[in-house]
Amino acid sequence: MSTETMICENLTVDARGHLNFAGQDTVSLAKEYGTPLYLMDEDRLRHNCRIYTEAFRKNFVPGSLVLYASKANAFKRMLALAGEEGMGLDVVSPGEIYTAVKAGFDMSKVYFHSNNKTDADVAFAMAHGVGCFVAESEEELYAIEAEAKNRGKHQRVLIRVTPGIDCHSYEAVNTGKVDSKFGLAIETGQAEAAVRLALDLPHLEIEGFHCHVGSQVFGEDVFQRSATVMLEFMARIRNTLGYLAPTLNLGGGYGVPYVLSDGTVDIAARIAEVAASIRSDCARLGIREPRIQMEPGRSIVADAGLTLYTVGGLKTIPGYKSYVSIDGGMSDNPRFALYGARYTCLPADKMLEERTLTADLVGRCCESGDVIQEAVPFPASIGRGDLVAVCTTGAYNYSMASNYNRLPRPPIVMLHGGESTVAVRRETLEDLVALDL
Ligand code: LLP
Repeated sequence: MSTETMICENLTVDARGHLNFAGQDTVSLAKEYGTPLYLMDEDRLRHNCRIYTEAFRKNFVPGSLVLYASKANAFKRMLALAGEEGMGLDVVSPGEIYTAVKAGFDMSKVYFHSNNKTDADVAFAMAHGVGCFVAESEEELYAIEAEAKNRGKHQRVLIRVTPGIDCHSYEAVNTGKVDSKFGLAIETGQAEAAVRLALDLPHLEIEGFHCHVGSQVFGEDVFQRSATVMLEFMARIRNTLGYLAPTLNLGGGYGVPYVLSDGTVDIAARIAEVAASIRSDCARLGIREPRIQMEPGRSIVADAGLTLYTVGGLKTIPGYKSYVSIDGGMSDNPRFALYGARYTCLPADKMLEERTLTADLVGRCCESGDVIQEAVPFPASIGRGDLVAVCTTGAYNYSMASNYNRLPRPPIVMLHGGESTVAVRRETLEDLVALDL
């Protein structure tokens, strides 16, 4: 039997040396559904949702809400599941709004982000009853006011503020700094000016403030630090404008381990620490505790996902290096090409063989940057027809997939209780030409 330490509890190895995911044999799943194949472990998804929802129930005032950040992975079944788990939703586009509508999501719990909502987007969102807009500029506040007035309604808004915090994550996903394209800076006075404006606009109701310091956050105290800055801002607004907002949204969730050396985050314990820090800040500032929101994406879906590929071949260049080529690539997982993201990659049909070969795992797209991971340990016998699993691919893989080289996107198969169900079907060649006139 295997004694290998796995990157996630939902991975095991059976006596044949097959990798099992969510208790199911990946080799059989690959046979049944073909590759490349995205798998999602439904029990793990619910488990991850509940870590947040239970910690919120225990630690924050009633009315606090966890929103699933649908950008991490949006398809109807996924959004429906987040709804079943009592979560709200963070959306950033009409496409995500439409997916929520089609999933039967309670639209009053949907929060619409984006640093550029067009007038058409604003109208579309309001027409579909989106509960709250997360406004990022004065121009946008005017646009939301105009649409709300047209419709003779009041629209809830959160105002997105940049607290000036650097979360030390990688640059492209680092968003809380003052010079970010997102939000209104506290430091420059632009945040306060926007609040002043929003309070004057008769069809807007300020639900509270939003900040997001970045993604893949591991720093011990990042959320405490941003909550402190935000609560101080809220207290100042109460003192200067006489308005105390009821809600504080702290943005995206915690980071996840992609490789064993990343370590783990005890999310429930961290949330309890954030709550304690918020309580003491509120006492110090003399304000009542706001309802808290967070918008985790990655930590809900990442380790509930796994991608399976079939190997096309092993190429060894003597004196240089080896490549293992697979039947997918940057088209279904662009994260190494974009961010140098790390992954745990496993020989799914040969888990008990010793891994004595080191090779780059590369895709089938026509460019050298099409790499899933460098220097992966593989059995020396790996070759055409073998199966490779890339772990922890539930977040920002399907949602960032493309049809580069006109590759059809893989299906998503949900696993639960020994059963498997297709939640998103495989794209066909006909799908690829369907828009061409
Ligand atoms: N809320 C806001 C306003 C965000 O911008 C994000 C992520 C989230 C919530 C969700 O954060 P999470 O819990 O997933 O860390 N494509 C990149 C990640 C970009 C994240 C952008 N915003 C990647 O593949 O790593």
